[in-house]
Amino acid sequence: MTANVLDGKAIAGEIQAELAEQVTTWTEKHQVTPCLAALLVGDDPASQVYVRNKQRACKRVGLESQLHRLPANTTQQQVLDLVNQLNNDPAVHGILVQLPMPASIDASPVLDAIDPAKDVDAFHPENVGRLVQGRPRFLPCTPHGIQQLLHRYQIDVAGKRVVIVGRSDIVGKPLALMLMQRNCALGPAAVNATVTVCHSRTPDLPAITRQADILVAAIGQPQFVRADMVQPGATVIDVGINLTDDGLVGDVDFEAVKEVAAHITPVPRGVGPLTVSMLIYNTLQAARLQVQTDDAG
Ligand code: GUN
Repeated sequence: MTANVLDGKAIAGEIQAELAEQVTTWTEKHQVTPCLAALLVGDDPASQVYVRNKQRACKRVGLESQLHRLPANTTQQQVLDLVNQLNNDPAVHGILVQLPMPASIDASPVLDAIDPAKDVDAFHPENVGRLVQGRPRFLPCTPHGIQQLLHRYQIDVAGKRVVIVGRSDIVGKPLALMLMQRNCALGPAAVNATVTVCHSRTPDLPAITRQADILVAAIGQPQFVRADMVQPGATVIDVGINLTDDGLVGDVDFEAVKEVAAHITPVPRGVGPLTVSMLIYNTLQAARLQVQTDDAG
């Protein structure tokens, strides 16, 4: 069997086309253009590419975007001051602090300083807490993109065994919460899964990953998931973006695993483009919430 390759890039384009229409309608009605402000500290090459892609996507769907670039020797206080300035700017609806930041800056206080109503990454503790309780304000972008992909390819999640390899705050933990929940308060109906989260201290990892109907690799290790770790007929979602001497590769050995799986995402053109689309979705959502609040006030 050779797997069906899930075209994340095409789905991301489909979502962006839908969002572009919604942005046009909303902007005409409210005479406000949703605006995303990105904050990039230092000169990490991958981060520069990611931020550029996010800005291009904003432009494509008709959003305003701002890029605030700060040198690597910026102090913690200077970053906090800029976050505060953006919090208080009514023209800015979404704020994104690109990670990783330079080692001299402690990321947690910076992320905690973002106004939760503008926190389009959904990294603020208030937004994480709301997600845990099943009443999210924003869905984290990469997990939401994975839900959209599964939903739009009609890959059923309810009652399925999902194994997530990786327990990061950005992907593993929130994705587990989202797929296990009973109702989809926001986002598509990719819920009610039985979820297992594995990590570097999990003994006999292949025995667990082989039980997965849907296997998600989000560990940041090139080609970590081999064919013998995958149940025949499984859906394999690769969240990895690893720059190696052989170019960009995911966390899954794509060539080998595609001979075992029923569905598989490639790298590139898989999950990555969906993350960007869901960021745009959240920026429109942030503008909606803020302008509604202003109307009410
Ligand atoms: N770095 C890697 N992934 C992400 C993300 O989703 N958001 C931000 N802000 N930084 C990242």
